[in-house]
Amino acid sequence: MTRCLFPGTIKTIMLLHFCSMPLPVQNISSSCSEPLDPQLLKDCHPEPGVSEAKCLARNCCWSPSKTPGTPWCFENTNECSTVAVSERIDCYPERGANESTCKKRGCHWCVSKVPNAPFCFFSKDEATLDCTRKYPVLQRIDCHPLPGVSRETCEAKGCMWCSAVIPNVPQCFFPEDGPYGYSLNARPEKTARGLRVILNKPDTISLFGNDISPIAMDLEFHAKDRLRFKIYDPNDKRFEVPLIIDSPSKAAVNPDYNVEFLNESSLHFRIIRKVTGTVLWDTSLGGLVFSSQFIQMMTTVPSTSIYGFGEHEHPSFKHDMNFVKYGMFSRDQPPKEFSNLYGVHPFYLCIENDFNAHGVLLLNSNAQDITLNPLPSLTFRTIGGILDFYMFFGPTPENVVQQYTEAIGRPFLPPYWSLGFHLGRWGYNTIDVLKNTIERLKQYDIPHDVQYSDIDSMERHLDFTYDKINFLGLPEYIKQLKRDGMHFVIILNPFLTKDEPRGTYKPFELGQEMGIWVNNSDGITPALGKAWPPGDSVYADFTNPETALWWTQMCTEFKHVLDYDGIWINMNEPSNFRSGQQPGCTRSHLNYPPFVPEITGGILAEKTLCPDSKTYLGDHYDTHSLFGWSQGICTFYAYQNATKKRAFVLSRSTFVGSGQYTGHWLGDNFSRWRDMHMSIIGILEFNLFGIPYTGADICGFNGETAYELCLRWMQLGAFYPFSRNYNTYGHKEQDPGVFGEEFATISRSILKIRYSLLPYLYTLFYYSHVSGNTVVRGLMHEFPSDPQTHGIDKAFLWGPALMIAPVLEEGARSLNVYFPEATWFTLYTGDKIPFSWLKKFVDIPAPLEIIPLFVRGGHILPMQAPARTTALSRQNPFGLLIVLDEQGEAYGSLFWDDGDSIDTVEDEAYFFVDYKFSNKELRTTIIKNGYSGIANQTYDTVEILGLTKKPNTISVNGKVILSDRIQYHPNMKVNLWITEPLSQELTISFS
Ligand code: GLC
Repeated sequence: MTRCLFPGTIKTIMLLHFCSMPLPVQNISSSCSEPLDPQLLKDCHPEPGVSEAKCLARNCCWSPSKTPGTPWCFENTNECSTVAVSERIDCYPERGANESTCKKRGCHWCVSKVPNAPFCFFSKDEATLDCTRKYPVLQRIDCHPLPGVSRETCEAKGCMWCSAVIPNVPQCFFPEDGPYGYSLNARPEKTARGLRVILNKPDTISLFGNDISPIAMDLEFHAKDRLRFKIYDPNDKRFEVPLIIDSPSKAAVNPDYNVEFLNESSLHFRIIRKVTGTVLWDTSLGGLVFSSQFIQMMTTVPSTSIYGFGEHEHPSFKHDMNFVKYGMFSRDQPPKEFSNLYGVHPFYLCIENDFNAHGVLLLNSNAQDITLNPLPSLTFRTIGGILDFYMFFGPTPENVVQQYTEAIGRPFLPPYWSLGFHLGRWGYNTIDVLKNTIERLKQYDIPHDVQYSDIDSMERHLDFTYDKINFLGLPEYIKQLKRDGMHFVIILNPFLTKDEPRGTYKPFELGQEMGIWVNNSDGITPALGKAWPPGDSVYADFTNPETALWWTQMCTEFKHVLDYDGIWINMNEPSNFRSGQQPGCTRSHLNYPPFVPEITGGILAEKTLCPDSKTYLGDHYDTHSLFGWSQGICTFYAYQNATKKRAFVLSRSTFVGSGQYTGHWLGDNFSRWRDMHMSIIGILEFNLFGIPYTGADICGFNGETAYELCLRWMQLGAFYPFSRNYNTYGHKEQDPGVFGEEFATISRSILKIRYSLLPYLYTLFYYSHVSGNTVVRGLMHEFPSDPQTHGIDKAFLWGPALMIAPVLEEGARSLNVYFPEATWFTLYTGDKIPFSWLKKFVDIPAPLEIIPLFVRGGHILPMQAPARTTALSRQNPFGLLIVLDEQGEAYGSLFWDDGDSIDTVEDEAYFFVDYKFSNKELRTTIIKNGYSGIANQTYDTVEILGLTKKPNTISVNGKVILSDRIQYHPNMKVNLWITEPLSQELTISFS
């Protein structure tokens, strides 16, 4: 038998629709008639007495030419051979079937000579009687998400069974009138904040029993652009994520949305964007389950432009909606397609078909998964807590992120130095190697602000120690680096060995005394895992307020040992080298729940502690994915206490709201070209998640890097908000000084471009901190009404104004770049992108030394002359890059402060200036003058792109500039050299 696959691809199925009337059998032409290599023909009727009729009855091919030496009746090698004619069920009895309409329906298409054989069919094997037709593939929502489901187990749960051979298409799915719904016991009742409905479960039992009834749904109209809908047990408090989201005491008046209840017999409700009538959520697919350890909800979504959900390595920024499922549960997992990674972010952004955007958060920390279905629809499944949804109505993508971060917490303002270039590795192994590395960057004058050490610099991997033999002199060396304007970041893990001799390891002993560890299920004895330090390790429970005190004390005391500037918190999923603590996890409903979402390994305890472990906040089952988030908060405050400076905390595990306290790097990636592409998707997603301070390990962490890969990655990484080259133990050095002159020169030049743009980047971080803007954004973010941009994830933007188009392929010396409709200029030359290139993909040269960069008309970018560190560059004069749009206008601003004090925005200890160019004149308006350090700063360069004619005179504050201070270029770019204080308002006129 040859293989049989459904011929329709999912894409074609998405166009599914029904026509009518059977198509008369006509134009018969056997699919066997195609010429086949006679050598490959397999005899289908080896016994004597073959005839055409007998051959066709076997569903084989009959050769009318009866060529001697070849089988006359041969096996059909295409898909049509696998379903015998007698097994075919007509999938298209109405008129209008052809190959394309049939395949769109998800059925087989085989033209057959057998009288009355349906050309468009599904097999008996594949379906119960005509189920494919009745339940189109597109609309199926998985009803039994367990491995090994059979027709019997499926039907026993009241679900529909209809086999399918298309990958991921559910075979067991919800019938139209799903068996699991809840009915409303009364009309929705008004509450101060909105509406409440009480829902009762009919007598049916859902997949895993323990159904909760009644349940309540509260709709809270939080704001014009924010709706909360929370489904919970009104009689028994279940676990709720302790993130505080302000909920106003009164319902918002005249919000942007309507909520409609469609039905009393089940919870069918719709959320509608008032102004367009677009249905953003519709739960009439049914399938609501609210049982003790299995909660499920489904909704349609208004388009397939869906972004977000994390943390994963998504193959594309815009999601594939073809029954793709992603688990969410914190895990020590190097990036791998479809795996749940370090953090949890159940948040998505959707661009509707009319280009408005909305976002939705499911505030739930339990192990969960999300399925993206082609209808398009979403299935949320979680195994604990409640369903606590927040919807943000945009209407622009940027508005959505602003509204989302308003709810979950605005991102922290990073210290200025942390926008410089970072370098580190696991495995310097000695202080001499560390010193040599730093020295060679210095020799090449490569910008370098921040240096890391990893666990190899600790004494036997013990937190709050350093190796006094191999890293002898580290404290003094750190002081020297700091005198040189650099900063030093240490790594800390959340686990501590309990096996050091008594009286020798204070961090453990004090913690033990304070009783701050994650405990076993008895709530008393510490859970013992195995991690880097020798012996067994305990885990600090950062949900316990006592732990915050202990951590602060430890971080403060250690600051006197190593004068660090930043804390990197690693392995905080939390990671354990065993599955569960000693002696393993008992068979309990928490450790082995009846349903485990689509998580790697399929066991909750894998690489971590047993779910029945106890934290201050509750069972590890509920709080597991909050570990990194809670450690991030503790570390943020511990740092500020210890250093009295603005916190720099980098965390591997994050959760909703982490961005208020920590940045995030994308984990243990690999030195591969594809990982460069994935890193762009990662930074775009973390900007949606409200963690804009993010980047991937440049040149790759795992594996051996290569010259060209690493060089192209240095170019891309120069535009990560968090720009760090880092690699793992045992692999070759990959810092930008190790590959020789050419590499160093190219790295230096791109990092100098980064450094010259840091005032613009810092201002973007200010906007992120105060208004929740993204720092890095996709093209779709700025150009949502251009559908072409929705799928672009190989280029990205810094704010609205700078497009970065990195080379992501080995050997490539040109790049296909899409230019959305705007005015664009090449950053390097100031050449204008021709109109004819707009809304097109165009090949752009990208020699090895160049990463294509474009600036967008309408924007003014504040800049500063670069230097080897930000400590030095911050002393340099400022510049303005004025990029005009077609109206000859441009806008921008600059935020400036001392770069590392705590709460400068809140304390108004900053300087803020607005730039506006219109009517051939630049005007600066000082909005805030709260930073005294601005007094010594000057503007010295102005570059303007997009003038339509050469000005006759240029004057600054009314004084004409001398011609030797002006340079006109043939492409209309104009450079000016001036000396004007930042602290005074400035007018530059071009007449
Ligand atoms: C983990 C981290 C990595 C670090 C290593 C050693 O693998 O993800 O960045 O270098 O641990 O601490």
